[in-house]
This record gives sequence, structure tokens and C-alpha cells, in this order.
Amino acid sequence: MLSFNPDSIAVALKDPYPPIAATRPNSAYAQMMSNNLAAINSEMTAINQYLYQSWILKESCPQLSTLLLRISQVEMRHFNTFGQLVFLLGKLPKYQVSQNCQCAPWNANMINYTQDLHSLLHANLSAEKHAVEIYTKQAQSVQDPCVSASLARIVKDEQLHVKIFEDILCSL
Ligand SMILES: [Fe+2]
Ligand SMILES: [Fe+2]
Repeated sequence: MLSFNPDSIAVALKDPYPPIAATRPNSAYAQMMSNNLAAINSEMTAINQYLYQSWILKESCPQLSTLLLRISQVEMRHFNTFGQLVFLLGKLPKYQVSQNCQCAPWNANMINYTQDLHSLLHANLSAEKHAVEIYTKQAQSVQDPCVSASLARIVKDEQLHVKIFEDILCSL
């Protein structure tokens, strides 16, 4: 049985977030940020994934439910950053997935609806590790220091989320 004080666990680093800015418009970077915003593995998915889990776990695991709600709020901050970056980089932000020049709306099938505690925690851990990997690569490759700084700061939160899900899985 999970037992912890969900409000005592930090869900975001204390380090300040850099100003949301881009040096100049860049369509390739705008597309990159758009994928972070609303692709299958994206902040849009993370927000809704953790919200859904907080709802279904409210009765059975109230502490985990509260923690997931708080993590979801951090993902919303990331979502807001990427949405602004898409616009600043010269593209209109849309809740859509684009792959090979084809666009499809973000949709509810991108959420994992499992109710199994182990499965959902493993899925969350895997998604957070994926976010760390992708954002780290982007922060290193993007030749815009403003965009890179936002990515590097968000990576720190995602690394913390990896640690949170690892610790919870270890405690089960
Ligand atoms: Fe995030
Ligand atoms: Fe995260």
C-alpha cells in the first residue's frame, strides 16, 4: 500500500524557468516544438494522462492521485512554454500531430487507459524517460540559445518525474 505525503514531494525543480523566447523564426524548430506540444508522446498527452490517472486513483490511492494531479500541472507549464515557442518560431500552434507532411488532430486514443497500478506507473516512467531523451537531444542540437535554455530547463523537471516514478515503483 502506498503511503506518503504527496505535498512533501517536489514535482518541479526550484531553478527558475528562462524567459520564453526565440532569437528568430525557424520553421524546423517550430515543427520540433509543435511535436513536443501535441504529438502522441507530448505534453498534451502527459497532462491528460496524469489527470485521468488522478481521477481513477482518487478512491484507491488518494496520495498518488494528488501527486499525479500536481505533476499534470507541471506538464501544463511545459505545454504553455512549447505553445508559445511554436508561435514565436513562426508557426501557429495547433493540437495536432504531423508526420511525413500529414497532419492529424491530437485525440483521446493517445491516452493509456489502463487501471492497473504497476502498468500505469511503468508507462509513466517510460514516457518521462522518453521526454528526457528527446528534449536533451533537442536542447543540444537547436542553434537558438533561448529555445535551448527552455528545453534544458524542462529536461530537469522530466528527470525529476523519472525519479518520482522510479521511487514509487520501488516502494510497491
Ligand atoms: Fe513535460
Ligand atoms: Fe514529466
